[in-house]
Amino acid sequence: SIPRYVKIVEVGPRDGLQNEKEIVPTAVKVKLIEMLVSSGLPVVEATSFVSPKWVPQLADAKDVIEAIQGLEGARFPVLTPNLKCYFIQGFEAAVAAGVKEVAIFAAASESFSKSNINCSIEDSLARYHDVTLAAKKFSIPVRGYISCVVGCPVEGAVAPSKVAYVAKELFEMGCYEISLGDTIGVGTPGTVIPMIKSVINVVPVEKLAVHFHDTYGQALSNILASLQMGISTVDSSVSGLGGCPYAKGASGNVATEDVVYMLNGLGVETNVDLQKVILAGDFICRHLGRSSGSKTAVAFCRT
Ligand code: HMG
Ligand code: MG
Repeated sequence: SIPRYVKIVEVGPRDGLQNEKEIVPTAVKVKLIEMLVSSGLPVVEATSFVSPKWVPQLADAKDVIEAIQGLEGARFPVLTPNLKCYFIQGFEAAVAAGVKEVAIFAAASESFSKSNINCSIEDSLARYHDVTLAAKKFSIPVRGYISCVVGCPVEGAVAPSKVAYVAKELFEMGCYEISLGDTIGVGTPGTVIPMIKSVINVVPVEKLAVHFHDTYGQALSNILASLQMGISTVDSSVSGLGGCPYAKGASGNVATEDVVYMLNGLGVETNVDLQKVILAGDFICRHLGRSSGSKTAVAFCRT
């Protein structure tokens, strides 16, 4: 059996745009977020408070957050890689800008941790411990991500036990939800199912989310397998935008339109209006000068 309701976490404005070379104007990002919210999406990850040298596209994080302060109807988490007490950055900058929810991002592979956040898994967990402690003080919910849950661009296959270890650590430091990321999109149900089984042993299934990139076209199959295991939170990106700058060759996230179409077909509630997500996708694709990565959006445009 599968859940009756699935919460979709839209990551387009963050994961979708972080890899784009041409800087997208703040006003376009804000309009995209507004359109996504109007479609009924309950969570729209808005941006990241990371180093602008590492991710120049999201250097306007503070401006984006300020511009959506009055926007209601969704939660707007942001990525924060660190706390930084002395120079106002990371978590502290996010809170100062008005952020009400943050996400921390660890990896299940050492090589990816090093290339993405420039430290070991253990050092990242120590850093995140500080972030979760501060977040508790401010009553700010923290989501935890784990990257490379089935495969790493450098190390290849990743053992399920490594993912379970990091998941347990993030859960114990207080993350209300742990998103399992197939960063490079290499997983199939053959690798995803054993990985989730191993994580469910240490973190309750209702605290888990899945985050698939669609490099090999496996994302929807992986999502269906995850739903069958009891997971009811799914990350996706409008038009299938996205990719991680530190995961060479990885393609975009699974497209939100395709996820909604599949869930509609399964009779699973999302409270998301598919036509409005397609409009948001059309808006950002026109701006980027590219065709949609969502098969559903392309099909609807033809009919
Ligand atoms: P570092 O170079 O090791 O750190 O970066 P540092 O503390 O030595 O700082 C270096 C410079 O960055 C300094 O500036 C800091 O002030 C600045 P300088 O003195 O050289 O002028 N800095 C910051 N600036 C703004 N905001 C901050 C901040 N922190 C330091 N928070 C760091 C370490 C983690 C900061 C860096 O590696 C970084 O920003 N990485 C971000 C990587 C990233 O955003 N990756 C993509 C998101 S993860 C992802 O996509 C996967 C996911 O989707 C799930 C999946 O698909 O699997 C979540
Ligand atoms: Mg991602």
